[in-house]
Amino acid sequence: APIEVKKIVCIGAGYVGGPTCAVVALKCPHIQVTIVDVNQSRIDAWNDPDFNLPIYEPGLVDVVKGCRGRNLFFSTEVDKGIAEADLIFVSVNTPTKKSGLGAGFAADLNYIELATRRIAEVSTSSKIVVEKSTVPCRTAESMRTILEANAKPGCRFDILSNPEFLAEGTAIEDLFAPDRVLIGSLQSQEGLDACAALANVYANWIPKERILTVGLWSSELSKLAANAMLAQRISSVNMLSAICEATGANVDEVAYAVGKDSRVGPKFLKASVGFGGSCFQKYSLNLVYLARSLNLEEVARYWYAVVEANDYQKNRFAKKVVDTLFNTITGKKIAVLGFAFKADTGDTRESPAIDLINHFLSERARVTVYDPEVQESQIMLDLTDYGAKPAEPIQKAVTVCPSALEACKGADAIVVVTEWKEFVNLDWQSIHDTMNKPAFIFDGRNILKRQELKNIGFKVVSIGTGD
Ligand code: NAD
Ligand code: UGA
Repeated sequence: APIEVKKIVCIGAGYVGGPTCAVVALKCPHIQVTIVDVNQSRIDAWNDPDFNLPIYEPGLVDVVKGCRGRNLFFSTEVDKGIAEADLIFVSVNTPTKKSGLGAGFAADLNYIELATRRIAEVSTSSKIVVEKSTVPCRTAESMRTILEANAKPGCRFDILSNPEFLAEGTAIEDLFAPDRVLIGSLQSQEGLDACAALANVYANWIPKERILTVGLWSSELSKLAANAMLAQRISSVNMLSAICEATGANVDEVAYAVGKDSRVGPKFLKASVGFGGSCFQKYSLNLVYLARSLNLEEVARYWYAVVEANDYQKNRFAKKVVDTLFNTITGKKIAVLGFAFKADTGDTRESPAIDLINHFLSERARVTVYDPEVQESQIMLDLTDYGAKPAEPIQKAVTVCPSALEACKGADAIVVVTEWKEFVNLDWQSIHDTMNKPAFIFDGRNILKRQELKNIGFKVVSIGTGD
């Protein structure tokens, strides 16, 4: 018979663990949900009386307000949380390995392993253990081996894969009404029972036909595949943008026409300065590593090209800025609008803004930056590569500004990197008045009203347009 889940613990209170389990708590008032983390300041922020939560996500505050202290708790008592729970989400970080075998490609599973060992150590009753983190294929097998080798007598562990498909900026919408929820399990009776238990939790708000149940390895691979195919779509449209610029075609028109084919579909075809975020590059490279380790070199090359195309796009855009500004930006002032990797998030992981600004700094430009959600301290961490580079020259060359207007004052060029809505309707006339002439705008997201800007007198350079 399916097990009834009454207490859930989530290990890892990050971008995924926090929002996903807060939504579980909101939608399942009969389940007690505790989100635990080793990071005290993160937990303190989740418990902040004024709801200054550690991550910015539209709608998140209302979800947390709706259930914190009722059936949603944030705590650093990891062991206690594990001991009490019937179901454990493992939602810890899985960065790319920096050294050793597979460095730069393979996932670092150290945090997953530590969390798994902790579960084995402190559990005195049977648990369903759910991989929520994105992990390489067959990680569930390693988790099972560790759990079984260290289990106390009478404790059994059933392992499920339940990858998360939310996108940042729309996390709450995505969690309220996901395209699908994917649960992978062993096809044994125990595996299927555990799967049914988790499916019943989601069934509290998600229609049954959207809850897909598959084998463990399919589930793990589907997550990498979904990310790699989305990344591939953006790289495809970005590689077309280069052809558009050289031919006079317009990439937005091309993407619209292509996307009208119902087999292709209209979404996720926006040409850009390149994709960013903690996951597209990382999981495309994980897939490359997987293919290589299976001796599928041609397959590895195919997925590697998606990442290479993205690097090319970022470089191409940076080079275009320099070329257009008469082949030199030394001493010139470049205003960068947006630092987050996409709009509606404060997350800067792998943001194209970092590469672009580094490029501008290597050409000895002065850079001003404005982003509505990213703090100056975060920008400096990213530009110094978390302290790996000396801070002083960067602090000298880069100024973080409190508004777009401030950042653009006296600039030679404006570069739009993040598609924040507020950039569309800035007071462009006043901005133009303060700038050095000719005043250039590089629209890395194709969001601005080109004609209006041209009428004001701006020289506008967009992605994927020949004129
Ligand atoms: P994150 O770094 O924001 O959060 C992970 C948290 O886990 C950190 O706060 C860390 O302190 C905590 N942690 C690590 N080890 C721990 C331990 N042993 N005990 C307790 N806490 C521990 O990461 P994230 O963005 O939430 O990503 C989590 C996973 O979900 C990753 O595998 C990621 O690839 C995947 N994912 C992320 C997104 C996204 O949009 N960010 C979307 C889908 C999937
Ligand atoms: C992505 C996926 O969309 C999620 O389904 C997945 O769960 C998540 O990765 C993950 O595994 O972490 P996310 O990275 O949050 O979500 O954001 P996206 O909306 O996918 O955007 C990624 C990058 O691609 C951003 O830099 C965005 O600006 C860029 N992008 C997106 C484009 O350049 N063009 C587009 O048409 C769409």
